[in-house]
Amino acid sequence: MRTYLVTGGAGFIGSNYIHYMFKKYDNEIRIINVDVLTYAGNLENLKDVEGRDNYTFIRADICDRDAINKIFEENDIDRVVHFAAESHVDRSIVNPEVFVQTNVLGTATMLNAAKKAWELPDGTFKEGKKFLHVSTDEVYGSLPEDPNAYFYEDTPYDPHSPYSASKASSDMLVKAYMDTYKFPANITNCSNNYGPYQFPEKLIPLHINNALAGRDLPVYGDGKNVRDWLFVEDHAKAIDMVQEKGKLFETYNIGGHNEKQNIEIVKTIIDVLREELDDSDPRKARISYDLIKYVSDRKGHDRRYAIAPDKIKRDLGWEPETMFKEGIRKTIKWYFENQEWLQHVTSGDYEKYYESMYSNR
Ligand code: NAD
Ligand code: TYD
Repeated sequence: MRTYLVTGGAGFIGSNYIHYMFKKYDNEIRIINVDVLTYAGNLENLKDVEGRDNYTFIRADICDRDAINKIFEENDIDRVVHFAAESHVDRSIVNPEVFVQTNVLGTATMLNAAKKAWELPDGTFKEGKKFLHVSTDEVYGSLPEDPNAYFYEDTPYDPHSPYSASKASSDMLVKAYMDTYKFPANITNCSNNYGPYQFPEKLIPLHINNALAGRDLPVYGDGKNVRDWLFVEDHAKAIDMVQEKGKLFETYNIGGHNEKQNIEIVKTIIDVLREELDDSDPRKARISYDLIKYVSDRKGHDRRYAIAPDKIKRDLGWEPETMFKEGIRKTIKWYFENQEWLQHVTSGDYEKYYESMYSNR
């Protein structure tokens, strides 16, 4: 039975990936989820896999060399899928150091531990071992508004935020391991994900949560920044395909050709919520475009991201399955039906976070 070590599996994409993998492979695989459970890690996301014999959760920091080495010593790991990271641009602007710590040093720790466990005396690696480093399109910087400009795998790196700089650094480390040691790895650079279990600090869940609470919907700058949105399950599928069919040492860009201005997203959230809420629900009367509030722009705000997913489509046959119209409705419905989840993740420290981020904008 193949054993996967998933880092950051209690976060947004990691937990969706674990669900996807058990749905697809059921008892044919074993997953060990290593997560330190920061504010963004939530075991509630994995409630329904907790009881499985082929699932193990280990609370550990990816920067803790001894703890990570021990996991490799005690388990014959075949695949590493490395999600664990600090992932929010706004937080990286306020506190860049933890991004360097987790995203750069944590990745170095993971690479070293896998190399140590997988390397043979002659410097080659055991058959079938693979490390997949999950990264972002933000490493490529910002695109002009020209609709024909896209990020390709060979687009030069040009990160601007501390978050994207730390992810770019981690990508470079993975590339260095592949170039220097022929370490068996792949890198994927994906566009913005949306879907269930995303912490409500990112645009879509934050605005759904605010709208349901009748709070303002903060739109940075002129609201015309463009992001390329992909339903999270399509990302999970792409990661699995890269592991199954991808060529070692290659980078694959993942994106759905689904560019939207932020203001369009915000208006869609309002429209869909209004459709979902009963006329008798008092929240419906409060949810309107009047909630939209233009606030001061994010520092160094990248204008446009857009992935050209030609390579993964051509070489692996991957294509997104969920159209935005369907995916956004599914997502909004999920938050709507899981308000207890929202309440749990937004109590306590979240309120303090919200105050400090938005009170001066
Ligand atoms: P997230 O913030 O929701 O989850 C991150 C997870 O990592 C959390 O469970 C957290 O507890 C864990 N973690 C953080 N620091 C850790 C540490 N030191 N040790 C162990 N675990 C730790 O993030 P996400 O949105 O699910 O993103 C997952 C990965 O995908 C990240 O590497 C991110 O850069 C990348 N990515 C995200 C997006 C997106 O749109 N969200 C797009 C492309 C790539
Ligand atoms: P975000 O979800 O933080 O993802 P990223 O910065 O990684 O792309 O933000 C998506 C876009 O939405 C980005 O252009 C910033 C903008 N934004 C707002 O306008 N208001 C908000 O409250 C947030 C969180 C983001």
